[in-house]
Amino acid sequence: MSRSGKYTVAGFMQDAKRILETDLPLAEKQAEIADRMSLLSQRDDLTRFAIPIGPADGSTQNFLLGFEPPFTLLGLSQFDPHYLSPVHEHGDFWVIACGWRGVDRWDMYERKDDGSIAGYADLELVDQIFLPRGRTTWMPPPPRSIHSHNNETGALNCELIFTAAEPMKVEDRLYYDVEEKTCWPSLFPPATIFPGTRWPPDLPGHHLHAAETCDHGRADAARLESADAPGPLGRALVSARAGVDALFGRSNCPSCNLIDSIARLAPARG
Ligand SMILES: [Fe+2]
Repeated sequence: MSRSGKYTVAGFMQDAKRILETDLPLAEKQAEIADRMSLLSQRDDLTRFAIPIGPADGSTQNFLLGFEPPFTLLGLSQFDPHYLSPVHEHGDFWVIACGWRGVDRWDMYERKDDGSIAGYADLELVDQIFLPRGRTTWMPPPPRSIHSHNNETGALNCELIFTAAEPMKVEDRLYYDVEEKTCWPSLFPPATIFPGTRWPPDLPGHHLHAAETCDHGRADAARLESADAPGPLGRALVSARAGVDALFGRSNCPSCNLIDSIARLAPARG
């Protein structure tokens, strides 16, 4: 908990990292992290701590709340009214989702063929998971790590997404046409290297999230807003912004709308 007594993004990230470092089986880690996402989802002000990173091919807007190299990421994925995402492959790239605004529906598929025929895929709808505020789910392993997002309402949907898994290789990220039984690889450009990039910026003696709780934080936030001023703080923010700017303007992965962000932060693959 923060000095305000609220559960914060920073507090969540600390908890998640601690859980990830335990010897628990992955499913138990995911369950524990999901519980904390549910707690965090009770806040109404999450976007106050997030930076928008643009739309993706599985969502209409994304917000980055926290990132720790190499792959630990917390974000918000948003879906316009009546937006239905492509059905897409996750492979071993697991994500945890927690409803926040509206009610997203994850349609879950199992791949029935062995993938040996290029361009062919036989998928079966195996589940539909509704995500009202505070309800969580996470991606199962293959061959059931395939899903779509579905907003059949006239209002925005938005959900928390967390992962600490390495993104899939671009060529393995498949899009599916369930009716035509076809699939094709993602057309995303290669990943870009952003070593050491994190969000919020790692500044000595400062944490952006402290701005909500104390005068010191507010003072630092004000200084950040005038980052044109020289000095280590301004330079750190400019560096961080450069990393975030690089997240814009790209089509996203077929996965949970934040994969592209992760891929761009991941080591380049040969
Ligand atoms: Fe996804």
